[in-house]
Parts: sequence; structure tokens; C-alpha cells
Amino acid sequence: MNPDNNSEQKKNESLEMFRRETGENLTTNQGVIIDDTNNSLKAGERGPTLMEDFHFREKMTHFDHERIPERVVHARGSAAHGYFQVYESMAEYTKAKFLQDPAVKTPVFVRFSTVVGFRGSADTVRDVRGFATKFYTEEGNYDLVGNNMPVFFIQDGIKFPDLVHSVKPEPHNEMPQASAAHDNFWDFISLMPESMHMIMWVLSDRALPRSYRMMEGFGVHTFRWINEQGKAHLVKLHWRPPLGMHSLVWDETQKLAGKDPDFNRRDLWDAIEMGNYPEFELGVQLVAEEDADKFDFDLLDPTKLIPEELVPVKIIGKMTLNRNPDNFFAETEQVAFHPGHVVPGIDFSNDPLLQGRLFSYTDTQLIRLGGPNFAELPINRPVAPTHNNQRDGYSRQTIDKGQVNYFPNSRAGGCPMANPENMRAYTHYAEKVEGLKIRKRSDSFKDHFSQATLFWNSLSEVEQAHLVSASHFELGKVEDKQIQERMVDLFNHVDHELAKRVAKGIGLSPPTEPALENHGHRSPSLSMENTVKNTV
Ligand code: HEM
Repeated sequence: MNPDNNSEQKKNESLEMFRRETGENLTTNQGVIIDDTNNSLKAGERGPTLMEDFHFREKMTHFDHERIPERVVHARGSAAHGYFQVYESMAEYTKAKFLQDPAVKTPVFVRFSTVVGFRGSADTVRDVRGFATKFYTEEGNYDLVGNNMPVFFIQDGIKFPDLVHSVKPEPHNEMPQASAAHDNFWDFISLMPESMHMIMWVLSDRALPRSYRMMEGFGVHTFRWINEQGKAHLVKLHWRPPLGMHSLVWDETQKLAGKDPDFNRRDLWDAIEMGNYPEFELGVQLVAEEDADKFDFDLLDPTKLIPEELVPVKIIGKMTLNRNPDNFFAETEQVAFHPGHVVPGIDFSNDPLLQGRLFSYTDTQLIRLGGPNFAELPINRPVAPTHNNQRDGYSRQTIDKGQVNYFPNSRAGGCPMANPENMRAYTHYAEKVEGLKIRKRSDSFKDHFSQATLFWNSLSEVEQAHLVSASHFELGKVEDKQIQERMVDLFNHVDHELAKRVAKGIGLSPPTEPALENHGHRSPSLSMENTVKNTV
């Protein structure tokens, strides 16, 4: 045997033995085996701790920096891994690769959350639930960052800081911790009629899901799908649980919040551990681009849904969640979702709420996750290879090779190229945009009540009674009578009987007349016939 080979083998064996040994031993971050982690190094048994105790310093420094800021909203969450499969090719509508082949299983990571409460708050509060999905597709990561309600409180992203300031605990005394039952929130809502549709959903049993496995999800905004030929459809996205939708009742939520604040988190975890894998079917409402302006509401208005009588939901695939995270911090906490993470074939609309979100998520993650390299964290890393000219920054994890980190250059082979001829590259949809540069809400966004009324009318008597009770609890806590009165007035625009019932429960005199309505319908209105012809 070649003597060189022999010594190489011995070196490998001793390294392997060393690795095994250190694997069983506590080490420093530099890999030095530690003899004692219960006593700091002292000058004498009863003397002061020494600066040279590098193990003590390293252990304590790491501990001192273990907390990162919680998310400014959706701080409390629970997540799971799984996969998504499309039932049939969506090639007619989008070129997104993960939506082409039923045989392809795309890995996903899903995080469910409450919105208002802190990281350690109870699960069963009355709140919107976040439903965020990261698809690790072969063309890059696609995030569908949705909620369990199909509409939102506000129409323009610029109102989001106001909304969240109002719903979070009041700034002087930080109360109440995880609920919207206070003056600031209802003050804001009572001055924002555009929130009335969403408020109806929030006061309904939809805000008290029994389980994350029994909850619907919605992309809320209208997005755009583009096929290989460049044809666009507007699309709304829906998650539907085959288990059906189930809610808790108010009394149960109150008891559970005390007895088991982890109720929804535990349910998700246990179901997966037991092999009862949560499933969600993906549904789409597709509207051909040329039909976009035919509705009596604006598809760009996120306080509106598309009634299914007009555009049915087409079920196109299924997601199965089959693995709990190994480490809450590394995965559930460090995951960074962003509605701007899209892949070829999926694009945005001009919904002003969506446009606002496209700025906010990276911006917040820069501070929450400590600098610009959070896409390199294992949970955020795409399965698609990444090549860019980015370098350095806090917590850089890639050891970049090569001399050249700019483009164009004449120096380096292997430097990534941006190539407009590349058919797999992301190309933004060339939508025609024209208009005055103006700070104004479109008139087509003015109808704040029709769909709130539609929702109220869709509820059964029991569901209506629950909604009315919820309004008594929430508004009953409001101390400022004027806020209560403004809210009753807004309810009167939704439904006269509803307003009377709300008023009665909070000790106000009921309105005598239905509100004179200005629902501000747009014309031309879309007839059913038209819809069915041009939509999918
Ligand atoms: C989380 C901003 C509207 C769903 C967040 C976060 C911010 C934010 C800053 C924390 C992100 C992080 O720390 O990683 C905004 C703004 C909005 C808006 C500015 C309006 C302009 C919406 C809407 C939805 C939504 C309409 C639902 C369709 C979510 C979800 C999360 C989240 C699910 C939690 C993601 C996770 O689990 O990590 N949002 N948001 N947001 N947002 Fe929004």
C-alpha cells in the first residue's frame, strides 16, 4: 500500500473519532471541548469571575442576544411543512411551472397566525387569522400570504399603520393585550366606513376558528395569471379545508384562552404527529382581463369579494401538511413571507393595498431578521439555485467566489447574467397604465355597504345572533358614547334590523329609519349571462 494513502487513512480515522467524541461533548462555538458548564472560572473558589473565561462569555453573550423582535403584526403563529399538487394543468391560464403537472409535489411551509396579539398571547381570541404559504418551486419561491377572511379593513396600504396602531393595545397603558374591544379600535372603524364589510366578518364566527385545519384561506387581492402566450386572467385565490369550516362559540373561546392558550397550536401539532394530515384544496376565481371592468364593484378594491354566483370557484389542487417543524425559532419564527415573492406566470394587480404590502414586508424583515441576508436562512432558502451579485451584510452565510460582483463586466466567466431572451426569466406583465399623478381614492371604491349587507343576509339566524352578541361585547366595552353612536349609524347602513339589535344591547336608542343609502354602484353592471360567458 502506498505509505501516503496509509497516513491519509489514519488521519481520516482519527478525525472521524474526534468528530464522534465532540458530538457527545459540549463544545464552545469554536469546537473546543468544555470540561464544566456549571461553574464560572474564578480567582479562588470564593473569588470574582475572570474575564478570560471565554466559555462563560460566549454562553452568556449568545443568551443575551437570543430574542429578536416579534412580527409587528401576526406575531403569534404556528407552522407546518407539507407539499402541494395541482389536480390538472393550469397551462391555459398560467405558465407557473408548479401549476402544470399533477405528478409534481412542490414542498410548502405554511404559517397560521393571529394578527393582533403578542407572541405569547392566547390562540382563541376574536381576530383575523393569517394563512401564509411558501411554495418552494423549481422556478423560485412563491408566497401566498393570505388571511382566513376574503376581504380587508382598508382599501389603501397607506392606512395600514393607522389600522394597526388603533387595534393594538392603547399606547399609554398597553391594554387590552390581544383584543379589539377598546375605544381606539372602534373610534378608527367608526370613522372608516370602508371597513364595514370586513367588520361583519370579524364579528362573525369566522373570527373564532375551532382549528387551523378547519379554516378557509384567501389571497384577498386580485392577482394576475399569465399563460405562455402572454394572455392574462385576473385571479382570486382560495384555500378550502376538506374537513369543512368549523368555529368555536364565544363562551368556549373564553374558557380555552385561560385553560389552554395553545389550543389551535396544539391541535395542529397533534394532528400532524398522529398522521391526521391537514389538507387544503386550492380554488381560483378566474376573470378574463377583458371582463375586469364589468362588475358593479372594482376588482382592485380589497374590501370586495367576487360573489361565487358571478364567478364560481374552480378547485385546482391540494396541499397536505405532513411534518411539524424541528425548531420553532429557526423555522416558524425566522420564516419571511412576502406577497412580492412571485414566479413567472403570476403577477400583481394595481390593488392599492397590495401595492402597499409590496413595500412593507422586506422593509420590516430587514430589522426583524437582522440585515439583508435573511433569504439565506435555511427556511427561506429557495430550492431553485440563486446567483446574484450581492455581497456582504450582517450574517452573510454564503462564501461567494470570484473577483467580479457587478454587471456588465468583461472580466469573469461564471458571473450571473440578466438576459431578456431567457424564456424562463420573470418578465413583468406589460399592463398599460395612464393617468394623473394624484392622491385620490377612485370613485369605483365608494360602495362600502352592499357586500356587508350581502354577508349579513347570507348568515343563518343563529349566526346572525352570534354576530349581534359579538357587537354587544366589543362595543359594550367602548367608553365613548359618540363612537358607539357612529357604529350604530354604520350598522344602519348595512341593515336596519341589525342596527336596532346592536343599539339595544349597548343601551342606545335604536335608529328609527333605515339609513338613506348611497351604495355608489358602478355601471355597467355585470349580468350573470355576461359573467358566465367570459369568465372561467
Ligand atoms: C405579516 C404588513 C395587509 C397577511 C405582516 C407583517 C407586516 C405586514 C409588516 C410582518 C411580516 C414579518 O415580520 O415577516 C402589511 C401591510 C398591509 C398588510 C403594510 C397592508 C398594506 C395584509 C393583508 C393580508 C396580510 C391584506 C392578507 C391577505 C399577512 C400575514 C402575515 C402578515 C398572513 C404573517 C406572515 C407570517 O406568518 O410570517 N404584514 N400587511 N397582510 N401579513 Fe400583512
